[in-house]
Amino acid sequence: MLWFRILAANSSMSSSASSSVSTQGGPPLDHIGWSVGGGVRYLDQTQLPDAEVYRETADIDEMVEAIKMLRVRGAPLIGVSAAMGLAAAAAVEARNARLTLEWLENAAARLAGARPTAVNLEWAIDRMRTAGRRAFTQRAGVDDVAATLRNEAQAIWDEDIAMCVAIGVAGTALVPRSATILTHCNAGALATGGMGTALAVIYRAHADGKEPSVVSTETRPLRQGARLTVWELHRAGIPVTAIVDSAAASLMADGKIDCVITGADRIAANGDVANKIGTYGLAVLAKAHGIPFYVAAPLSTFDWTLTSGKAIPIEERAGDEVDAAPGVPVRNPAFDVTPADLVSALITDRGVFRPPYAESLATVAAREVRGVRRTLD
Ligand code: MRU
Repeated sequence: MLWFRILAANSSMSSSASSSVSTQGGPPLDHIGWSVGGGVRYLDQTQLPDAEVYRETADIDEMVEAIKMLRVRGAPLIGVSAAMGLAAAAAVEARNARLTLEWLENAAARLAGARPTAVNLEWAIDRMRTAGRRAFTQRAGVDDVAATLRNEAQAIWDEDIAMCVAIGVAGTALVPRSATILTHCNAGALATGGMGTALAVIYRAHADGKEPSVVSTETRPLRQGARLTVWELHRAGIPVTAIVDSAAASLMADGKIDCVITGADRIAANGDVANKIGTYGLAVLAKAHGIPFYVAAPLSTFDWTLTSGKAIPIEERAGDEVDAAPGVPVRNPAFDVTPADLVSALITDRGVFRPPYAESLATVAAREVRGVRRTLD
């Protein structure tokens, strides 16, 4: 757990320090970073757990493809990767004296449209667009605009690292001393720029001397649980057992699960949670068996413009991801919405919130909305 301690210590350091730690092998994975040439270097998660393949790019189309194909994935990480990809591509445009506001708007729109459900992507690209527009308005030269974009991407990454640490700190108190925790999909380091969201709570509990063990669902159809969560936790020395998605109910009935912790892709202002398909079913099961169901996410995952989860756009992915006989119609929604009344608590970088969420989140929502308005002015 040395990497965890390094990250935790650096969360209070200056913004540039935290990312230099993450590119010097502080965390167990060097899954995102800047390449020597100023591009984005990322671990291709479609190849895990069989091979650790790293790719580099400073090209918008390649980054869009990486996000669509889930080479980089997980709500916070796609925001961080898109911001870094935009900065890297802008630097190339600046070097060739082609960086314009029109280029920026177009590249930002393409990146923001790569996947619809995780609001972190829009959130990060909005920040990049705002920083770039402001630099152009101030008549900065193209090199200065590119430097502004790089600084903003770095800040987004640094803040994500710090938010992950804060989620772990907030959530550890909810974890009993030796608990078996069920998680779904991958909400770990691989899904963020830092140490994860749901898994940050588990890493932190482990670092605090508790003895958590994890049950990871397989997570059909792309098997993020069986391929990624299991791989990541095993490397970190946390006991983990893989199950098929449909085994969750009987494990709960047998008293083998103490709590469920998942991540989120978008949370509405009333606490409704969009997350990987199957999360809703797990929440219903947890309620039926009297098991706490927690969701861990940074504030960048909250969409304060939505009063309920009904308006969250749900990504429908290609039918060929589902293993079915050829020729039959396939539905492949990648996410579902868990109603707030099934969520026992939201674990965030600003602390733990309990229902009713419209009330408990109101102050933080108002502060965040005011902050966004100020940034846009
Ligand atoms: O399709 P994916 O793999 O990007 O889906 C990821 C999830 O659903 C995660 O649970 C969510 O993004 C939280 S990540 C900290």
